[in-house]
Amino acid sequence: MREAGPEDRADCYDICLRTGDSGADATPLYTDPVLLGAVYAGPYLALPEGLGYVAVDEQGVAGYVLGAADTRAFEAACEAGWWPALRATHPDPGAHVRSPDDRLRRLIHDPPLAPDRVVSAYPAHLHIDLLPRAQGGGVGRLLMDRILARFAVEGARGVHLGVARANERAIGFYRHLGFETLVEDAGSLLLGRAL
Ligand SMILES: CC(C)(COP(=O)(O)OP(=O)(O)OC[C@H]1O[C@@H](n2cnc3c(N)ncnc32)[C@H](O)[C@@H]1OP(=O)(O)O)[C@@H](O)C(=O)NCCC(=O)NCCS
Repeated sequence: MREAGPEDRADCYDICLRTGDSGADATPLYTDPVLLGAVYAGPYLALPEGLGYVAVDEQGVAGYVLGAADTRAFEAACEAGWWPALRATHPDPGAHVRSPDDRLRRLIHDPPLAPDRVVSAYPAHLHIDLLPRAQGGGVGRLLMDRILARFAVEGARGVHLGVARANERAIGFYRHLGFETLVEDAGSLLLGRAL
């Protein structure tokens, strides 16, 4: 395991896509193979407000955990230094969201902000994804332990994350690690844990 950096971009984008359909391979869902990683992995690797770790085996990078200790500062940094370049190359579909690619393009132009009541008690957030070959052997717990300890050092008193309701395996994993439901809607949950 080592700290993630800009040099991990291609690997992290690939892992993001290959685990992006509620834990399963999302490659068939997207025409653009880069967009999902550009939204959910790229800014954590590029911006100083993001941080993370990668798990490496003999085949290369097999998983990551990426996040930010201060979600509001991270959102502001994305607004200043990440979204503008993507907006310039990916037109806003507006109300005409017809595909998963369109949903990501809409999100680039109007990124959702974490709710105030979540950020006030759980200011950090994270994303964790492992390729199938790295799943189920304790690597997820190691990555979580590492980033949660880092968040605590950075002064965060809690952490939140989003997960699709369909991703029952990940929900079981997060609950096992002490996360509780903060907000739920039809398709997803926001979970949180004190640090
Ligand atoms: C979800 C994921 C990160 C979990 O990582 P993992 O390496 O498979 O999990 P680990 O083997 O480290 O499991 C850690 C602990 O959680 C437990 N656990 C794992 N999944 C569980 C589940 N569904 N229900 C209950 N406990 C679970 C394990 O038994 C283990 O317990 P222990 O350490 O007390 O013995 C990983 O499977 C993954 O990346 N999946 C695909 C991508 C994904 O869905 N990401 C989340 C998107 S929100």
